[in-house]
Amino acid sequence: MIISFENAAARELCKKLIQEERNHKAKLKVPMMISSTRKMNMVSNLTLHEVLKEAIQKEVLSRFLYVGLRQRVKNAGSKEAFHILAEQEEMHQRFLEDYLHGKIKEGALSPGLVVDYKIVDCLDQPEISPTMDIKEVFNLAVNREKASHDLYLNLAAIHPNGYIKHIMEDIAAQELEHKKHVESLYVEVAFPQTNGG
Ligand SMILES: [Fe+2]
Ligand SMILES: [Fe+2]
Repeated sequence: MIISFENAAARELCKKLIQEERNHKAKLKVPMMISSTRKMNMVSNLTLHEVLKEAIQKEVLSRFLYVGLRQRVKNAGSKEAFHILAEQEEMHQRFLEDYLHGKIKEGALSPGLVVDYKIVDCLDQPEISPTMDIKEVFNLAVNREKASHDLYLNLAAIHPNGYIKHIMEDIAAQELEHKKHVESLYVEVAFPQTNGG
């Protein structure tokens, strides 16, 4: 009887894990689909409208990444750090959505403007895969933050002086901070300090 109970509990746990994995994949599906659409369009240039749409998806994926990492780390300080990172990515997403939907006028460019290839290159960021271990996920996050920093800096450069340029520069600076922060969090996770060590 005891053995059969244990098996049932193990089966239940296994089912839960598989469902979590499926949910995770489903969440990642949207950004991955858009990214592959963009790859098909790589020969042609992208408009500002298309770049903003894809940048929004990158922000959504970054937020998922940090929500996921928050669940995987044990230290309370690291959990809080990932919570803040996820919140900041959501703020970036909100700003981009407001710009995309024409809610910000000051210093805005035409959505149909064809942007420089340097900006399009920054959208080519590594994607998460379910088989990655935690070290690979951290490495991926660092690389994505670097690419995001470059993206917003290049976007700021094409905007005239004004509100949008200013916010793009602020976001670029934040993404660089995120990169450094994720690197330091990785050190904490990979080489945790031991008492009396
Ligand atoms: Fe961001
Ligand atoms: Fe970021």
